[in-house]
Amino acid sequence: METLRDARVVVTGAGGGIGAALARRFAAEGARVVVNDLNAGAAQAVADEIGGIAVPGDASDVVGKARDALGGTIDVFCANAGVGTGGPDATDEEWERSWDVNVMSHVRAARELLPEWLERGSGRFVATVSAAGLLTMVGAAPYSVTKHGAYAYAEWLSLTYRHRGIRVHAVCPQGVRTDMMRAAGTAGELVLAPTAIEPEELADAVMAGIAAEQFLILPHPEVAGYYAARAAEPERWIDGMNRLQQKLEHLTGSEGGDRT
Ligand SMILES: NC(=O)c1ccc[n+]([C@@H]2O[C@H](COP(=O)([O-])OP(=O)(O)OC[C@H]3O[C@@H](n4cnc5c(N)ncnc54)[C@H](O)[C@@H]3O)[C@@H](O)[C@H]2O)c1
Repeated sequence: METLRDARVVVTGAGGGIGAALARRFAAEGARVVVNDLNAGAAQAVADEIGGIAVPGDASDVVGKARDALGGTIDVFCANAGVGTGGPDATDEEWERSWDVNVMSHVRAARELLPEWLERGSGRFVATVSAAGLLTMVGAAPYSVTKHGAYAYAEWLSLTYRHRGIRVHAVCPQGVRTDMMRAAGTAGELVLAPTAIEPEELADAVMAGIAAEQFLILPHPEVAGYYAARAAEPERWIDGMNRLQQKLEHLTGSEGGDRT
């Protein structure tokens, strides 16, 4: 894709899973890629593999270091790092961590990126949200709530800055075969596994969404129908999800399933 050749790209949480697949794909398109992850060894391994630059550390604090590593400019920022911790009885710490990584790391990155992007009239923000940001995820209260927050923030960014050259994409997949999905235990098996895709297929969907300049990227297209049904018939939708919740409780004997 012409827009990505020589583009300076940052991917957070790129030491594995979806982030690593995105980093590989951007590099294959000719971009210069900063690979961020809390896990320094994992970030370095992916960077070495793709000829990128590892910038380990927290996703909330990566823009300055990544900009320096890329020679002063960032063209594309992928806010991908996310956590899936906490069930129905999540602690305050789990709620705060989910809010911090799943929402505030996006807010903090955008706050640092926007002055430069608005001045030059271009910039691209790719938020890895989740279908849980449009729908919900059984057994995972902090994840469902904070992913709604991440979606709302991406939407707000897009409608506020679209006429000033800022492009925003909200990527909302269902299951993707990564460590996070495996950690979701029986809930993941029940809800995500049947239609799960590989991280590389998700990267394909992101590339197609960028090429088409689409805000909402749905690697599982059927999510559009669920989203519409939820809005049109909330009682029916909650009844259906409650049946799924009951199935989860039946299989695991627990409200939150057997997440690891
Ligand atoms: N796997 C799925 O089924 C699925 C579905 C929908 C959305 N998502 C979203 O996709 C994104 C990537 O998930 P994944 O499945 O690849 O997960 P993963 O757990 O396999 O990988 C996430 C990576 O992010 C890193 N990370 C976590 N917190 C970080 C932080 N604060 N700063 C920097 N790095 C951090 C981890 O070390 C890990 O390498 C997440 O935002 C997740 O919510 C995943």
